[in-house]
Amino acid sequence: MIRVPQLCLVALVGASGSGKTTLARTLFRPGEVLSSDAFRQLVANDENAQDATADAFDALYHVARKRLARGLLTVIDATNVQVDARRAIVELAREFDVLPVALVLDLPEDVLIARHHARTDRTFPDRVIAQQVRSLRRSLRGLAGEGFRQVTVLRSEVEVAAAEVQRER
Ligand code: CTP
Repeated sequence: MIRVPQLCLVALVGASGSGKTTLARTLFRPGEVLSSDAFRQLVANDENAQDATADAFDALYHVARKRLARGLLTVIDATNVQVDARRAIVELAREFDVLPVALVLDLPEDVLIARHHARTDRTFPDRVIAQQVRSLRRSLRGLAGEGFRQVTVLRSEVEVAAAEVQRER
């Protein structure tokens, strides 16, 4: 059981295909999850439009601030394998004095590659996933030091399927 405060800022962390969006759908309410793909879709009509990344995150952060100002738990569904992406999340949490929480999906690379091949909505080469996995693995030990007050790492499909969140009062 993953226990989180009623009000926190959750960073999903995981390579493409690790199942962030799928898991977020089961653990959180729809409005709580701000997905970078959904914001690319909103600003550019295309969830894969990498050239829309800056605008998408600008809009995503704008909405996240509105939610946190209302005292609402918020989840950032993006790969967040890069330290800069995570630093922005920790800073946002500090700005609103809420706890930053990391929920990491560290699945075996062969699972990610197999899923990637089965997808029609992602066309980038396999090496992008390999890079994301390397970046994630390098990040793991430092997450608490970056400011995440709670770090949960799910390492297999079984662990992801069993994940449950309990909000503490
Ligand atoms: N998938 C799966 N089994 C799961 C979870 C996901 O087969 N337990 C598949 C989904 O059907 C989807 C792909 O893996 O085709 C990616 O799932 P998604 O939840 O979108 O993963 P994300 O980590 O959010 O991927 P991205 O960063 O590319 O948005």
